[in-house]
Amino acid sequence: MGDKSIKVTAPATVSNVGPGFDIMGFALDIAVEEMVVRIKSKPGIRIKKITGDKKGLPLNVKKNTATVALSHMLAKLEMNIGVELEIRKKMISGSGLGSSAASAVAAPFALNELLDRPFSKKDLMEFALLGEEVASGCIHADNVAPCLYGGFILIRGYNPTDIIQIEPPKKLHCTILHPQFEIKTSEARKLIKQNYSLKDIIAQSGNAAGLIAGLMKGDYGLIKRSLKDVIAEPARAQLIPGFYEIKEAAMNAGSIGCSISGSGPAIFAFSTSYEKGIEIGKAMKKVSSERVKKNIVYVSPINTVGPKIIG
Ligand code: HSE
Repeated sequence: MGDKSIKVTAPATVSNVGPGFDIMGFALDIAVEEMVVRIKSKPGIRIKKITGDKKGLPLNVKKNTATVALSHMLAKLEMNIGVELEIRKKMISGSGLGSSAASAVAAPFALNELLDRPFSKKDLMEFALLGEEVASGCIHADNVAPCLYGGFILIRGYNPTDIIQIEPPKKLHCTILHPQFEIKTSEARKLIKQNYSLKDIIAQSGNAAGLIAGLMKGDYGLIKRSLKDVIAEPARAQLIPGFYEIKEAAMNAGSIGCSISGSGPAIFAFSTSYEKGIEIGKAMKKVSSERVKKNIVYVSPINTVGPKIIG
């Protein structure tokens, strides 16, 4: 097979979404990376270069989420072709915005397009999950699934992965505050307790169910009442300087729910318009800037398309 290439982007994603630890996530209209995937005649998977990430993501194909996902895809295809990747990160890694998941999704998505789609999205998700596992040390679909499908996703269960797409209300917007430092998901997961009281389980399930119902009904009051997390947020808030003050600033500026995005340090805040989202972002940035030197703010509606072909 001769040289053939495609360029794609993959969206940033917010996982956990307050009470949905490991079971909820949604995509943003913000590309977290661009990737060129090229079919080569020389067999094997190679990463030609990674740009845009100062810390240096692994070029080792056994450690990079993109190439691990691809190796599972090629094994299934039983094809001994060559695949070369060029990755351009648009955010620093360890952001809490699904950067490793975006690589794990973009690579199989792009190769599938080059090969005229031998796999369904459901198949691609299984490859992407195996790729994501090398970054976080466990299988969780709450970044991979919304990155691949777009929209708001509920993961009812694993083995087999059972995902449900929820249509969020049209006016829903999300502000992201991204303080510029790294948190490793594998480290942040160690802070989560393994056992919870019945009281906590009841609170978390009530809020998770309330959030989904609120999104489906477009009931912003219910979304606001439900966006409470008794599992990840209390354990991980210590990793983000001024987290509770930033959250308070977001809520005082009119947010309808704010929590840590994935394992952080990014923080998300829901609102009902782009303009309100900008105001909330300013308030969050002001507080965070007193503690962390560089902070980036994004405001986005919910992305409903997933990865895009751009060349
Ligand atoms: N649900 C995962 C966690 C997402 O919070 O550990 C990590 O991005």
